[in-house]
Amino acid sequence: MVDTAALLSESLAAIAACDSSTALEEQRVTLLGKKGTLTEALRTLGGADPETRKTLGAALNQIKEVITDAIEAKKLELAGRELDARLKTERIDVTLPARPIPNGRIHPVTRVIDEIAAIFAEMGFTVATGPDIEDDYHNFTALNIPESHPARQMHDTFYLGRQWTVDGEQKNNRQPSTINRPLLRTHTSPVQIRTMQNGKPPFRIIAPGSTYRCDSDITHTPMFHQVEGFVIDQHTHMGHLKGCVTEFLKAFFELDDVPVRFRPSFFPFTEPSAEVDIGCKRGKDEIKIGAGEDWLEVMGCGMVHPNVLKNCGLNPDEWQGFAFGMGVERLAMLKYGIPDLRTFFESDVRWLRHYGFDALDISSLPGEL
Ligand code: PHE
Repeated sequence: MVDTAALLSESLAAIAACDSSTALEEQRVTLLGKKGTLTEALRTLGGADPETRKTLGAALNQIKEVITDAIEAKKLELAGRELDARLKTERIDVTLPARPIPNGRIHPVTRVIDEIAAIFAEMGFTVATGPDIEDDYHNFTALNIPESHPARQMHDTFYLGRQWTVDGEQKNNRQPSTINRPLLRTHTSPVQIRTMQNGKPPFRIIAPGSTYRCDSDITHTPMFHQVEGFVIDQHTHMGHLKGCVTEFLKAFFELDDVPVRFRPSFFPFTEPSAEVDIGCKRGKDEIKIGAGEDWLEVMGCGMVHPNVLKNCGLNPDEWQGFAFGMGVERLAMLKYGIPDLRTFFESDVRWLRHYGFDALDISSLPGEL
């Protein structure tokens, strides 16, 4: 005879003792599986007399139900406990400080643009931007560059392959005409035009960005970077331009006294125009900025041409100002002693490791002004 009371209490004790889902599953098979204790007990009923079969059968089936419920409850309890344990081991401490990735470096072009922006920010300039793909009007016409100007020819300017008609329709074009064709901006000066078109004077902006010219040799790359400076108000004169550029160069090269020379020059969009040279000394393999008998050209500048103001709806009798444009790579080469322009764009990680800057090394230049 099966001792049902003992069977129940032993089974429940065994279930309670299980300390993992795997152990519980084994226990379930031991009790309720094909050859399980309870299954076997139910099987013996076949040989029993009808009265026993009835009472014992009912008792065993009830035990089976209790055991099944107990297993189910234990299963839930263990799953909950196991999940807690897993969460504990997989815990992430989000308060830990981030580890900087030691391999990343800031490219000298980015660094120098940041330095220039920081210096001009101290002088009250904000940063403006314009598109790399420009049209003829913003890159040339509005800047008082006449249609016959050599810079417009295919030789210097990258024109994009399609001609745009006035109503915005595009057609393939092999004609020599470049008017209305989109182009890659040859300088950052079109941002002067966009600034005047989109806002109200006074203006005091710098515009850093990529520029493109169809030119490639030791000192020219087809893509390079410029920073444009642009000031318009009612009182600005050439003295302000000279002061602003000189102060900038002192701050940028971190020299109290850097000889600066304004040499008369020509740009269609400024009048008068000048090229800015800084004093330097040329050694055998290096150029030292500061006192010396040599001069080095670093930017173009001038007073904004009245025609440019008129083209943008400003009255030249009321508004005036100055503009300047400098090459970022050239300034980077001079300040950080980088000898070859072309290496800037070779994406050589060894070069970047050597000439690049630590991502967390924020320029401290403006504070030193
Ligand atoms: N845009 C001129 C260049 O690319 C530089 C410049 C800017 C000159 C502003 C004068 C005023 O050479």
